[in-house]
Amino acid sequence: MKTICSKFLLFSLLLILASCGGSDDSDPDAGPDPDVNPNPNKITTYDADVKAIIDEHCLECHTIPLAQGAPFPMRNYDETIIGVNRDLVLRMVSNSVNNVMPPAGRLPQETIDVILDWEADGFLER
Ligand code: HEC
Repeated sequence: MKTICSKFLLFSLLLILASCGGSDDSDPDAGPDPDVNPNPNKITTYDADVKAIIDEHCLECHTIPLAQGAPFPMRNYDETIIGVNRDLVLRMVSNSVNNVMPPAGRLPQETIDVILDWEADGFLER
């Protein structure tokens, strides 16, 4: 009886410990945090906000004809969504010189925040 009691105690202790760790949401495999919404008071769309960024910083290569080895164009919304499905956000927030987009270097945080807002709002066209 005594051992059953202490096993039960140990089990409850483990349960408590486990539930304490439950609020830890750091998943090493997760992409950019979906809760990141730098500007929650604004609805960010491709037409109003994102197109200008892509045109200025990406079309140099991601256009037709494809330039400097870029693998797909981003001339309009549909083509840019193809980019989204090819990790556009991860590539723009990357801290690695080997894989950041544009290759010349990470854009200013204000610009990246627009892209994160766009993601948080669901990659809207307009
Ligand atoms: C100077 C040319 C150049 C510019 C400017 C450029 N890219 Fe790229 N991009 C490339 C090349 C080359 C590759 C293929 C090699 C690689 O994946 O790094 C690529 C690959 C990518 C990929 C991965 C595609 C895949 O499936 O592998 C994404 C996403 C991307 N670019 C997004 C962007 C975005 C967004 C911008 C603008 C913010 C941008 N690129 C600006 C040249 C460029």
